[in-house]
Amino acid sequence: MDIKQIEALSSVISASAAQLKELQDSLKTTQHSASTARAEFLKPSLEVVAAASQLIALVRTPERYLMDMSTGHQLSSSLRVVVETNVVEILREKGKGPKKALHIKEIGAYNRVNYLKLGRVMRLLATHHVFEEVSPNVFANNTISLAMDTGKSLAQLEAAPEEKYDGSNGIAALVGLFSDETMHNSVGIAEILKSPETTNSFSPFDAPFSIAWPGTRNIKMYDWLNLPENKPRLKRFGMAMNGMNSMTPPDAILRGFNWSSLAPGSIVVDCGGGVGSVSLPIVQTCPQIHLIVQDTGPVVAEAPAFWKANQPEALAQGRVSFQAHNFFEPQPAENTNIAVYLLRMIMHNWPDAECVQILKRVRAACTPNTRIVIVDNIMLYASRDQTVEGADVGAQDPDALAPEPLLANWGAANSLSYKQDINMLSNHNACERTVPEFADLLGPAGFKIVEVHQAHQSWLPQIVAVPI
Ligand SMILES: C[S@@+](CC[C@H](N)C(=O)[O-])C[C@H]1O[C@@H](n2cnc3c(N)ncnc32)[C@H](O)[C@@H]1O
Repeated sequence: MDIKQIEALSSVISASAAQLKELQDSLKTTQHSASTARAEFLKPSLEVVAAASQLIALVRTPERYLMDMSTGHQLSSSLRVVVETNVVEILREKGKGPKKALHIKEIGAYNRVNYLKLGRVMRLLATHHVFEEVSPNVFANNTISLAMDTGKSLAQLEAAPEEKYDGSNGIAALVGLFSDETMHNSVGIAEILKSPETTNSFSPFDAPFSIAWPGTRNIKMYDWLNLPENKPRLKRFGMAMNGMNSMTPPDAILRGFNWSSLAPGSIVVDCGGGVGSVSLPIVQTCPQIHLIVQDTGPVVAEAPAFWKANQPEALAQGRVSFQAHNFFEPQPAENTNIAVYLLRMIMHNWPDAECVQILKRVRAACTPNTRIVIVDNIMLYASRDQTVEGADVGAQDPDALAPEPLLANWGAANSLSYKQDINMLSNHNACERTVPEFADLLGPAGFKIVEVHQAHQSWLPQIVAVPI
């Protein structure tokens, strides 16, 4: 055991914890949920998580460590059970006593799940700090499980189960997406990587998704989601994208490209924008901007309802409009003089060739003054040396790397980016990218990178590029 390293990591934890306490005292706030997250908390929180995980890897026996990892899928499966059987909502509405707890027999009577099996699922989760087992077989929500509360009453959930995620923070929907479609898709990664027919293919048709479900061999995941029989999955996917937003402070999109610098009347196109939830803060804070939300027909059809619920004034003033558009086709002819094309979590859905096609379509519609803003994970190597021979590192954010003795890429504190990379492989045969890898897509499409905003690894970074 490397005691020196253990001591160094313990010191990081103590120092960062002291910093968190000081901040909490001075700001009189907690930072447990995205809605209250303050920029000041982010770095010390990341340091604690990165150092604690590194510490666990050092003190656990290697065998035990590997077994913990290789059984990780049970956590996903268990989360899916509690989300799909409304356990969080049952405890919130029917729980008794100060902790609003219920015996598993009572939970099982509400959701009609065998209570002995449900109890085991809940215990695994409580063992990982999701729910609290307040006494044997009696469980209560805790701060972490409550993040999956859709806010619906049991009567609403019973009457319209397909509306479970509507109007929620999207976290339960995101847990559903990750623990259902994405987990299912990832089961076949080894087969796809070992097969000589598919291992070197970067076609979206050769994603592990293609062997995950009956009839998916010749269809891409987004087209499959758009099939009429997958309407509930598409609906959940849309809400899951909202969940991605809930994980970041509401104004995260504003902490990069300077949207308020745009001139009055500037038009921003949110390409593959879903219902436009990401652009909502831009419209709210920059009254001079007109927004066009673009996505496939079935997705964009849901967008007016979202804006009606969240920013009806923008709808009434005509400051937001909607376009059903396939981003592999030329931009609609009316989209002249666009100030910014925003592509958030689009590039990571597509292999390189398709990304270049999408970017070329955008480039063809650019004026010399158009900017594109790509919002996606930006990958770092786990090694301290980030240079790759022959790669153009270009613009870099100097605060991106974690300090020693932490892993340079923030290790487990940043693991969601690396899991998302494998999710993208599973779903679309696509990937998350480093700055030089983004440069390799942008160059052939006729753009160059001018800004990189990457400092805080748990908020989605931004790349700003201009036509060349
Ligand atoms: C990962 S989601 C990101 C949504 C949104 N930008 C956000 O950040 O919440 C990718 C989006 O791309 C859309 N999409 C997929 N294929 C498309 C296509 N060919 N043309 C336009 N949009 C597409 C999907 O419907 C989906 O809304």
